[in-house]
Amino acid sequence: SARECTKYTHTIMSGQRLFCNERVVRTVHSAESEKNKFIPFDELISHRRQQAARSVLIQVQSEKSCSELYSYCSQFGHIEGMHHYTVHHNTHFVLIEFKKVSHVENILNKATHMNEEQIIPVEGSMFWFRTEKTRSKISVSKDVPLLIKNGCSIPTDKELTDLLLSAETMSDQMVTLYETTKLNDIGVRIRFQTAHQLERCFSGLFPHISVLPFGSSVNGFGKLGCDLDLVLRATNVNEENLNSRLVYHTKTIMSDERLQTKKFMETIADTMQHFVPGICNVRRILHARVPIIKYEQSFTGVECDLSITNLTAVYMSELLRLYSEVDWRVKPLVFTLRKWAECVGLTNSAPGRWITNFSLTLLVLFYLQFKQILPSLSTLKKLAVKRDTRVANSMVDCTFLRDLNRLPERTTNVTTLQELLHGFYEFYSQFDFHTKAVSIRDGTTISKPDYSALYICNPLEPMLNVSKNVSIEEVEKLKVNLREASWLLESTDNNNLLTILQPKKDLMTLVRGKRVVNVAVLFGEDSEDEKTNVANKQKTLSGSLNKDRARRRR
Ligand code: CTP
Ligand code: MG
Repeated sequence: SARECTKYTHTIMSGQRLFCNERVVRTVHSAESEKNKFIPFDELISHRRQQAARSVLIQVQSEKSCSELYSYCSQFGHIEGMHHYTVHHNTHFVLIEFKKVSHVENILNKATHMNEEQIIPVEGSMFWFRTEKTRSKISVSKDVPLLIKNGCSIPTDKELTDLLLSAETMSDQMVTLYETTKLNDIGVRIRFQTAHQLERCFSGLFPHISVLPFGSSVNGFGKLGCDLDLVLRATNVNEENLNSRLVYHTKTIMSDERLQTKKFMETIADTMQHFVPGICNVRRILHARVPIIKYEQSFTGVECDLSITNLTAVYMSELLRLYSEVDWRVKPLVFTLRKWAECVGLTNSAPGRWITNFSLTLLVLFYLQFKQILPSLSTLKKLAVKRDTRVANSMVDCTFLRDLNRLPERTTNVTTLQELLHGFYEFYSQFDFHTKAVSIRDGTTISKPDYSALYICNPLEPMLNVSKNVSIEEVEKLKVNLREASWLLESTDNNNLLTILQPKKDLMTLVRGKRVVNVAVLFGEDSEDEKTNVANKQKTLSGSLNKDRARRRR
């Protein structure tokens, strides 16, 4: 019971309180999930989009300008909240949320341009707050109500390490890692603001345009500073007017659909590059299977990948979010494994022949299905009702249960996070990657349909392999690292997550210092002798790591 739990808290960034005991965490999480009913994806997205439409982004000299800004902007409407953040540590921005969209329009009607002759006079909801020329008549209050300061700061490695060292168990460390690095409210707000900027920009030509965030920004697995995946949809027909006698004059679509897409994307990329404030470093990757425009929004500090009409990916994000919410252990486990994969060099932010975070997440979800913590997609499909029906890109059936409140039963599995982490490594250490494919849809393995090195069926399009890009060498590297992590965790008294979160180079440095044995180095052959040898060395290693940890704590 909650009373029996040894409760303790510690302070993390910006004074947030974090419960850090597995039992307490579990109690808190289940209480929270009972209290906070699941919000369906569509509702969440719609809420965030409306919030973005009611917000403006203003660059300020420094944090000190916030009170003046608050007083100045209050004349345009009721302010619901102010969120301050910095980009590259020295450029300050405040995202102001108003109560109504009309308040934003009031600002737009009063804002001005500088140096009219030297600039392209584009308007939007991103501004800078210049110092006043004449003495203002507006009284400036010292306290700024509703201000949240420095919302986007990412904990440094040192801060994160210290936090992890202060957690009592490995499971607690996993929760701490998740809580301190997950995308927070302001992180989500600036991502929707970035999407809103494009909508506003192209709405003259396409009044029903929507620019929707998908991927890790909305699927529950996003971390602070993650990239923003966007899909632009410009084909919204107003169905109510189908009988109207007035029909819009339009251009005819090209017979070559790919060419049409390419031309369209080239045009919007040019417009973004030349006319839209804050957008820079625009790169066109238009020959890929899914053509994208990469760009940076320098006011929000977000790296973006923009595609068009790719609705399946949005429904995929909805599915992943649904899974992330089924059980409180899903997100801490995925975060830990993503962090581990990054540390050991399995994932890389550049695209290539290696496993992506998305594929890795599907491996984790599949493992949790095997543990009967998560349902298969087929089960979610059987539970779908009429309003859950979705078809993407005219042919991909993306129908599945969308409201978790209607999921009849949750798991009885009470395995701890630490055990699940270890279980994941063991499960995939023994997995037959050579002949088997992973199917989230069935919740079972299937025979590999082709010779891809790693085969993870796309849950929504089962004929596609989401890890087709992964090379044999990378699968080998994955296997080596899985076994290495499994062995490191097996060390009897090893209760420190940091043991497996060491970057490879650090491990090598430690090897030279004779404190840690890098198992990968010893993994050339799988002979039993070597395994015993390594396991013995691991025991010595964990002893010295624990001493090290105790010393650092002191
Ligand atoms: N996606 C997909 N099929 C693929 C690859 C990606 O449906 N073969 C969709 C998924 O919804 C995925 C999203 O595209 O979440 C974005 O892909 P990506 O940016 O690679 O993954 P993220 O989940 O956003 O992870 P990261 O934080 O690494 O960006
Ligand atoms: Mg992404």
